Amino acid sequence: MPKIRISEGNVKDDILVVGLSRKSAKDSLVIESGDVAVDVKKFQRILEDLGATGKTEEVIKIPGSTSGLVVFTGLGEFGNQYTNEVLRRAAGSAARELVGHTAATFSLPNADESAVHAIAEGAGLGAYTFDEFRGNTKSERKAPLKNITVISKKYTKSGGALIAQRAQIIVDYTYLVRDLINTPPSHLTPVTIVNAIQNAVKKSGATGIRISVLNEGQLKSKGFGGITAVGQGSKNPPRLLNITYSPDKSKLKKSSIKTYAFVGKGITFDTGGLALKPALGMEAMKSDMSGAAAVCAATIAIALLKLPIEINTYAPLAENMVSENATRPSDIITMYGGKTVEVLNPDAEGRLVLGDALVKAQENKKLDAIIDVATLTGAQVVALGTRTSAVMTNNEVLRNSFLKVAEASGEAFWPMPLPVELRASLDSPVADLANIGERMGGMLVAGLFLKEFVADDLPWLHLDIAGPAFNESKPHGYTPVGGTGISLRSLVGLAESAAQ
Ligand code: BES
Ligand code: ZN
Ligand code: ZN
Repeated sequence: MPKIRISEGNVKDDILVVGLSRKSAKDSLVIESGDVAVDVKKFQRILEDLGATGKTEEVIKIPGSTSGLVVFTGLGEFGNQYTNEVLRRAAGSAARELVGHTAATFSLPNADESAVHAIAEGAGLGAYTFDEFRGNTKSERKAPLKNITVISKKYTKSGGALIAQRAQIIVDYTYLVRDLINTPPSHLTPVTIVNAIQNAVKKSGATGIRISVLNEGQLKSKGFGGITAVGQGSKNPPRLLNITYSPDKSKLKKSSIKTYAFVGKGITFDTGGLALKPALGMEAMKSDMSGAAAVCAATIAIALLKLPIEINTYAPLAENMVSENATRPSDIITMYGGKTVEVLNPDAEGRLVLGDALVKAQENKKLDAIIDVATLTGAQVVALGTRTSAVMTNNEVLRNSFLKVAEASGEAFWPMPLPVELRASLDSPVADLANIGERMGGMLVAGLFLKEFVADDLPWLHLDIAGPAFNESKPHGYTPVGGTGISLRSLVGLAESAAQ
């Protein structure tokens, strides 16, 4: 994990990263080097000769005179103020291109503190690599940046350390999410994910966190029929992980604080069960625990930020496998809380484990809101593509405040409806509910299924991150191939806004 700092100046690193944009009307390149002066004339000339465009995702390295390399990262169209997401991505693209180097200084336009934070975050997130499972080829791999310095004259004294600290936490715990997603199911099972989270909590040094776990025997005897049914086909037994964070109340100024529950889908591998998925693309289903990884890592991040809010997090963990013990289409299960579900399709397993966990989380009567995060439906990817996640809700006020923090964090979420007329398609002739309904609008139907497990008067958000959780194409901006860590930044942002 790279170390992030904010500094007033004095570039000591060999590498200086600056911005490059283009004035479309005049078609001239503009060097945006923030608070550091560079030889504009000289570099402009070289850049023109090299055919630089200043477009986003373009990264050009040129030998410098005072520093070893000057790296120009595209900001797109020239503007007096670049959005934070443009800065975040530009810093990320440059950091990605700097594998093999130890340290780099980033000097980009920083109009306010949030821009400085975005640059630090983008650089940190872009510096990610995952080489843990390389054997003989490990030594050939270049290591990512170890030290990231962001230059800001104005904002170093006024809170530079705090900016660096928050960016560091976001980066570190996004790495945790990505590492967990990228770890294959041969090495990541419900049991090992619990161990990994326990170790991460210990290592974090965060205070106020408690962890408890239910094993397969306890899940069965306590009536967690959804988690049990999904996990029973695998020799790797299911778990229900619970993490609670309570801030140190003796240090709080406020008398009343909010309590939020997070619930994350934790299918360590989704074969589809007896509704076996086609082999082509099945490997991506190692990412079906992205929701669980995000809510757990976000909880640790919130604890490290010492936010004045209580968080109660549940990760239902199971492996959806094929075997003689696997749940059959037509099996009827009894969910935690008593609802019966006819399992028509064992590949619609996420809603089964989430239903149990949602009901369990609501035993805490102090909840002010509940948020579930899941790689729930292929229909999400069809509807919104691989870079935009969906948010469904029973409470528009909560959704609007969520969309605001998501936007600020640079995570794309789009509101989706829960049309009542689709609900009847989940009726079963033999049980309280069927686990699949109308195929068209499958993302919304899945949301309506979950809604059955949430009290009407409890503000609830359902985040379907099926597409954005796992990048199967090329790296871009601060996003690597593989696990992305999507939703962590929005969850932390939501907790911050709720804690205000
Ligand atoms: N884990 C999948 C959803 C998914 C698909 C996530 C693609 C990421 C990328 C989920 O468990 C699933 O298989 N859903 C089914 C539901 C259907 C049977 C109603 C789907 O979307 O096809
Ligand atoms: Zn499935
Ligand atoms: Zn799944």
